[in-house]
Amino acid sequence: MSQEQVSYYEDFNEIEKKLWSLLIRAVNDRNSEFRTPVFICGDKDNLDGRVVVIRKVDDKNYFIQFHSDLRSTKIDIIKKNPSCSLLFYGKKEKIQLRIKVKSELHYNDDVTKTSWDKTGHISRKCYLVTNAPGTESEKPTSGLESKFDNFDFSKEESEKGYENFCVIKCKIKSIEWLYLAAKGHRRALIEFKKSKKFTWLVP
Ligand SMILES: Cc1cc2nc3c(=O)[nH]c(=O)nc-3n(C[C@H](O)[C@H](O)[C@H](O)COP(=O)(O)O)c2cc1C
Repeated sequence: MSQEQVSYYEDFNEIEKKLWSLLIRAVNDRNSEFRTPVFICGDKDNLDGRVVVIRKVDDKNYFIQFHSDLRSTKIDIIKKNPSCSLLFYGKKEKIQLRIKVKSELHYNDDVTKTSWDKTGHISRKCYLVTNAPGTESEKPTSGLESKFDNFDFSKEESEKGYENFCVIKCKIKSIEWLYLAAKGHRRALIEFKKSKKFTWLVP
């Protein structure tokens, strides 16, 4: 099947089906191009993006979650301005998704407990750095004590990371879809208001 004949070329329902399937698959598929979007947040002259790993996608309640260190500078930014966005591009699929969200911070609650339990030994290491991410250092460093660097720690010891662990729940306000095709690109906007609103846009 040539790319131009895909079912989601000019069909809103098929577009929505396709984008949710890409996002849901990305949570468990380490090779998915949609697993590591850029999360953008900011305030006035302090706007920045960084790569994150999406950990949960809910196509019924319209949210995406990722994990972070509570001490990261983006947390204070999100608290001040929860309007953020997630940017995805899949080169093989030729699909870009620009998702506007309202970020909700979770710390030491049911959401973080569930996510932390699913967080494996390797990922837990990220939350065991001694000082906050972004802290200046006199020498090159991982920020970890050497026993953590060498994975020489038990599951019990890794529990300390939970003190720094938080979940950002990104509640979706709109998704802008762009599909690149030789015979003509297609661009569409889905707004998740009380009722869903679909609009075609010029690419
Ligand atoms: C492949 C990859 C995945 C990453 N996943 C995450 C993540 O899920 N959460 C996170 O906070 N940072 C993640 N990072 C690190 C961020 O991109 C960023 O460097 C870090 O969060 C510190 O920056 P900030 O505090 O300004 O956000 C990831 C980086 C890469 C390259």
